[in-house]
Amino acid sequence: MIPRGKIPEAVVNKSVFLKTIFLCVFTIAIFAIFANETNAWDNGVALTPPMGWNSWNKFGCNVNEDMIKSMADAMVSTGMKDAGYQYVVIDDCWQVSRDENGFIVADPERFHSGIKALADYVHSKGLKFGIYSDAGTKTCAGRPGSQGHEYQDAIQYARWGVDYLKYDWCSTSTRNAQEAYTTMRDALASTGRPIVFSMCEWGTSKPWQWAQGVGNLWRTTGDINDHWEGKKKWPDGGCCSLGMLDIVDMQVGLEGAAGPGHWNDPDMLEVGNGGMTTVEYRSHFSLWAMLAAPLIAGNDLRSMSPEIKAILTNKEVIAINQDALGSQGRRVRKDGDKEIWVKQLKDGSRAVILFNRGASETEISVNWTDLGYPEHLSASVRDLWAAKDLGRMNGKYSAKVASHETVVLRVTP
Ligand code: GLA
Repeated sequence: MIPRGKIPEAVVNKSVFLKTIFLCVFTIAIFAIFANETNAWDNGVALTPPMGWNSWNKFGCNVNEDMIKSMADAMVSTGMKDAGYQYVVIDDCWQVSRDENGFIVADPERFHSGIKALADYVHSKGLKFGIYSDAGTKTCAGRPGSQGHEYQDAIQYARWGVDYLKYDWCSTSTRNAQEAYTTMRDALASTGRPIVFSMCEWGTSKPWQWAQGVGNLWRTTGDINDHWEGKKKWPDGGCCSLGMLDIVDMQVGLEGAAGPGHWNDPDMLEVGNGGMTTVEYRSHFSLWAMLAAPLIAGNDLRSMSPEIKAILTNKEVIAINQDALGSQGRRVRKDGDKEIWVKQLKDGSRAVILFNRGASETEISVNWTDLGYPEHLSASVRDLWAAKDLGRMNGKYSAKVASHETVVLRVTP
């Protein structure tokens, strides 16, 4: 028999052993949580998907300072700035060479006042300024890339007042994407200026699996082309630019990687460039809003039709995209050409898309259980494109959706 007050050594040893195990597990758990939190690169910008304008989709290499200035003017005068668009980004072809000290030189004919003066002009409009470079020896249009000049370029950008860098992936040979983009991230960070880092390696190395701590956004696919669906060969015969819907399909399953400060980028908008109908552009914009995608317009803002302006500046649809929770919408139902997409919002409501890819009108029904709500919940429904409250609905809502059209709803319990 064990005398009272005396605990055998085996029991003491067991309890010490258990306590030690508990402490180890606890420490590892705390460390894991902390490590996970610091995994995302926190440069304090792009807490919601970046909004702006970029020269590439409409103008390609045909860029110059007067055009960029007039685009900044138009961003203000059209109401785009009021709707939330901020960054004016010059894509490829602003640069021509490097000087004897290795500094990048802007095209003196097209940018005769220099990049700093242009950045100052954009800033004077209350907007932010962005620029483009490439992780390889040459950009995709054959201009000088940044490889080997990362820190020098980052310092130059910061001196000029650059707020956003799109960083492409041409002429990179056997370079490792993670190494290349991390080098540029560190170069940008070393300047002390908060610069949105937009990675453009076309999804080749699956950046959604590793880039949360490296970039603020990363392209998930090859280049968008201004058409509804289907791959198209490049003019040089190479394969391929993608239709808007090809890109949408490639976003399914990537949702978990997106969040404040780090976004999946399904490429820039083609809204207003002429290759799709107004209904199709409305669907393009609705889907990008739902995907928590960066909203980077790519049309000529100086000559937008009222219909295109109404799409790009719809504040209720933009609010879905810019919701502070930063959750990327997901496709919850696909029944042939009928699709339902859902995005959770910070106030507990849901953005819902009823999307008809087909050639004729059809009825699409969403059940509240598709949204993660109880089956018989009563919830109010608002149609965002119609700007109309539809009243309270029990358990579900159905709408007739025209060919290629998207109905965007906000469902609030
Ligand atoms: C690549 C990018 C495009 C554009 C061009 C510029 O194709 O994916 O978005 O920046 O280069 O040359």
